[in-house]
Amino acid sequence: MATIKSTSYSIYIGDKSFDALNNFLSKNKYSSYYIICDEHTFEFCLSTLLFHIPKLNDAEIIELESGEDKKTLETCLQVWGALTDTGADKKSLIINLGGGVITDLGGFVASTFKRGIDFINIPTTLLSMVDASVGGKTGVDFEGIKNHIGTTCEPKAVFINPLFLETLSERQIKNGYAEVIKIALIADAKFWQELKKLKHAKEFCTEKIITKSVELKNAIVKKDLYEMDLRKSLNFGHSIGHALESALLKFNKDILHGEAIVAGMIMEAELAKILKKISQKEYKEIIKYTTSIYKKIKITKEIEAQLLKYIIHDKKNEAANLCFALPNNIGHYNLACGIQMDLIKKVLSNY
Ligand SMILES: NC(=O)c1ccc[n+]([C@@H]2O[C@H](COP(=O)([O-])OP(=O)(O)OC[C@H]3O[C@@H](n4cnc5c(N)ncnc54)[C@H](O)[C@@H]3O)[C@@H](O)[C@H]2O)c1
Repeated sequence: MATIKSTSYSIYIGDKSFDALNNFLSKNKYSSYYIICDEHTFEFCLSTLLFHIPKLNDAEIIELESGEDKKTLETCLQVWGALTDTGADKKSLIINLGGGVITDLGGFVASTFKRGIDFINIPTTLLSMVDASVGGKTGVDFEGIKNHIGTTCEPKAVFINPLFLETLSERQIKNGYAEVIKIALIADAKFWQELKKLKHAKEFCTEKIITKSVELKNAIVKKDLYEMDLRKSLNFGHSIGHALESALLKFNKDILHGEAIVAGMIMEAELAKILKKISQKEYKEIIKYTTSIYKKIKITKEIEAQLLKYIIHDKKNEAANLCFALPNNIGHYNLACGIQMDLIKKVLSNY
C-alpha cells in the first residue's frame, strides 16, 4: 500500500487501504457515520465496503441520483435535510463513496453543515481516484456553470482501492485517464513518455498509474492549496474544457468531464504552440496520443456561442483578462494571461 502525506491528512492507495480505514475509524471517535453514495455505488461498491469495514454497518446511507446534472444545491438541500432529520451532529462523519460528483458534493455538504463536519473520501471512479477526491476542492454546479458554488475544505483522509474499478465501464476509465494525461503534461515529462506507450483501458488504471498521478497532484496542492499560483497548472485543458462541458450539458448532450477536458487540452495545446510554449513536435505528440484514445466532439455553432460565454466565467480570469494554464515544454507549466478572444475562436475553429 502507498501512503501519501498531504497537508493535514493521508491518502492510502491499494488493497490494504481497507485496513487503513479500519484503523482510522478505531483511532477517531465519531458519534455517527453517514455514507453518501449514488445508485451505482450503492449497487456495486457499498456491500464490499460494509463487508471490509464492520464499524460502518450501522451507518446511515444517503443514496442520491447519479449524474453531473444532480451536482446541484437542490441535491445538497436533500442531504442537509436527511442529516438534520436523523440527528447528525458536529461529531458525525460523512463518508463519500463514489465518483467526483459524490466527493465534490459530499465534501461541500460536510464543509457547510453546522459550519463544517469531518468527511473522508472513498473514490470509486478512476477520475475521482486520481483527481477529484484529493486536494480539498468541493462544490456544486449553479445555473449551468460548473463548480460555481463551493469551498476549499480538505477531507480527513482518502482511501483509494482500485478494486472498485472492476465494475467501471471502459468509457468511464477513459474519462478518468484524461486527468492522468493532464497531470503528466504539466508536471512530469518522464511520466508522459510512459503513458504514451499505453493503449488499452485496463492499462490506464493500474495502482502504479493512480499512485503516480496522486503524488503529482498532491505535491502541487501541498504548495498552493488556495490556488494562488502553482495550483492553477491543474487547470490545463479546463478553461475551454469546462466551458465546453457546460455548453454541451446545457444542450443536453451526452458528455463526460474527461472527454470535454481532452478536447480542451487539444485546443489549449494549440494555444501553447501558437504562444511558443511548446514545440510543433510536442504539439503533434499530444494530438497523436489523445486522438488515438478519444473521439472528436462535435461542436455546433450554438454550442460554440454558449462556450464562449462560459469562458468569461472561468475562475482563473480576473475582469476581462483571459488566463490559461498551459504546458511550458511538456512536463512544466506556465500561466498565460491577456489571451485575446480571437485566439480562442481560432483554436476552436481549428479543432
Ligand atoms: N474536486 C476536484 O478537484 C475535481 C477534479 C476533477 C473533477 N472533479 C469533478 O468530478 C466530477 C466527475 O467525476 P466522475 O467522472 O467520477 O463522475 P461521477 O461521479 O458522475 O461518476 C461517473 C459514473 O460512474 C458511476 N460509478 C461510480 N463508481 C462506480 C463503480 N465503481 N462502478 C460502476 N459505476 C460507478 C457513477 O454512479 C456515475 O454514474 C465532475 O463533477 C468534476 O467537476 C472534481
